[in-house]
Formats: sequence, structure tokens, C-alpha cells
Amino acid sequence: MQELTIIRPDDFHTHLRQGDLMKDLVRETSKSFGRVLVMPNTIPPVVTPDDVRAYKKELQDVGTDLDFLMTFKIMPNLDPSSMTALKEAGAVAGKFYPVGVTTHSEDGVANIESSYEVFEAMQEQDLILCLHGEVPGVEDLEREHAFLPQLKKIHENFPRLRIILEHTSTKAAVEMVQSLGDKVAATITVHHLLLTTSDVRNGEFHPHNFCAPICKSESDRKALVETVLSGNPKFFLGTDSAPHLKENKEGDHPKPGVYTTPVALPLLAQLFEENGKLDHLENFTSVFGANFYELEKNSDTMSLKKEEWSVPSDYFGVVPLKALEKLTWSVIKN
Ligand code: NCD
Ligand code: ZN
Repeated sequence: MQELTIIRPDDFHTHLRQGDLMKDLVRETSKSFGRVLVMPNTIPPVVTPDDVRAYKKELQDVGTDLDFLMTFKIMPNLDPSSMTALKEAGAVAGKFYPVGVTTHSEDGVANIESSYEVFEAMQEQDLILCLHGEVPGVEDLEREHAFLPQLKKIHENFPRLRIILEHTSTKAAVEMVQSLGDKVAATITVHHLLLTTSDVRNGEFHPHNFCAPICKSESDRKALVETVLSGNPKFFLGTDSAPHLKENKEGDHPKPGVYTTPVALPLLAQLFEENGKLDHLENFTSVFGANFYELEKNSDTMSLKKEEWSVPSDYFGVVPLKALEKLTWSVIKN
């Protein structure tokens, strides 16, 4: 049977939530990943140095060998002078959410320039700026496109600040990131590599494929696939795995977010293999992100085998991407 062994992957964008669900998510995530960048959009959000320390401890107390790279949420009134203490508390990045664009972003920022003093302080502290790059109030398919001039402007104002455009979903965004020099990078999710708008709404609404930013056109999807296959080091894996309980996805107000952690590496192996680029998978999952974050690559490995399996209907009440479908690669458990 064919096996594939790669440097243990990192996930540079994941949502690990809170409470009992958090414990299940941490255990599941540790089967595939070495390190994860943990998003701060909990309730209440992770904002202060104490929040960062407390959330990290809760995650560590689950008792896996997953490493947690912490973030803080850039609130409208965040004090720029708190950056030093946030860094000391273990934060490596700050996450910017425009108000109202996604799950738990009601308290996000309305005017991005009001955060420029925070960006300045982050640049001085060498903290990474992770951007949810969408403009609120614009039609959903156009929200990312509308944000791109803001990305360029932030880079021009803070040329030493490392910036990541998270969950990049369009060809235009890929081109913008490519044009902006080596301080600007992007994460790409598994679902944006595989799905288009018609997997979300094609007459019917498919809530489990619904996320922010919404999956776009076939030409956008192809541009993302070509970019990751090309081996450009500015683009690396951040799954934006965003679990919600089934009832919160299927109700009247479905929350955006796709749960991909357990299927991420099998689906990526399949995608890279189908395109004859299996040898480029490791750079995307385990090398380029670590390099951008200035971390050593993980010292251990993980293996996948070419063995068909059926994705469960749910994991702890959360429906994953490709639920009940058959995948060709599976993760070999340690
Ligand atoms: C994320 C979530 O559910 O927390 N949802 C999503 O659709 N991606 C938030 C986010 O990262 O936008
Ligand atoms: Zn996210």
C-alpha cells in the first residue's frame, strides 16, 4: 500500500472554541497537526495578555502534544501600548475582523484606519497581522475583492509588518498578494480549494459548505489550486476549520464556518496527487508557513496511507466537510 510521510503539518488558522467541544477539537486536531494558530473569536474574545495566557492554559490542559500559537483580537478600542505585554503572554499574531463579516465579529472594527496605531505597534513588536479581508455591507461575492486596496494600503504604510491575508478565496486576491513583496503572505483553506459558490447555493442552500468568505467561482478555485501547486512560498495552509454544532448550521440563522480538521490532509493529498504534485504537499502544509512565522519546522513526521475510508456523518455533533463521502487517503494514527 502506498504511504506518504511528511514533516508534521501546521495549521495556521483554526478555531478551537470553548468548553467540552474545545476538548474534542483539540484531541482531533492533534492527530494531524503539530502546531496551530488559534483564532481569538471566542465569547468573550481573547483580547488581553491574561486572556491569551488563560486560553492557552485551557488548551494545554487537554493534555495533547499539540502546540498552540496564540492570537489576540484587535478590538476597536485596543490600546497600542498593550502589544509588548501581549507578546510576552505568548501571542504571535493579532487578528483583525471587520465588523459583522463573520461568526462573532459583531464587536469587530468599523474603520480600519482607526487600528493603524495598533498596526504600528505590532510592526515594532514584530507581531504578525492576520486579516479577515472582507468589506462589510458589500455583496458577499465581492467582499474580498473590495478589501484588496486596504491590504495594499496597510502594506504601504507598514512595510516591515508581516501581514497574512487569511482564507484567500479569489484570483484577484492571489494576484494582489503575489504583487506585494515578501512581508505579505496568504493562507488558503481546503474548502476554498475544493468548493465553489454552487456547492453552497444552487437553488438549495447547503449550510455545511457555508463559510466566510463564501467559496467563489470555478475560475477563482482554479487560481487557488494552481497557486498552491506552483509551490509559491507566500501561500500556505490555514484551514480556517470552523466547527459549529449541527443544529446551529441547519437552523434559521446558519452560522458561517466549515469543519475540515479531520479531512484536511487526506483531501489535500488527493488534490496534489490528482495534479501530479504530491511532492509539493509538504511545502504547503509543513514548510512555507513555518518559514513565514520564523519557526523551526516540526522535528517529527506524520504519515498518510492510500486507503479508502468513509467520512463520518459527524464528529461530536459537528458535520465535517465531505460527510459520508469516501476519501482515498487516510491519516495513519500514531
Ligand atoms: C469562522 C468561525 O466560525 O469562527 N467562520 C468562518 O466562516 N470562517 C470565523 C472566520 O474565520 O471568519
Ligand atoms: Zn477563521
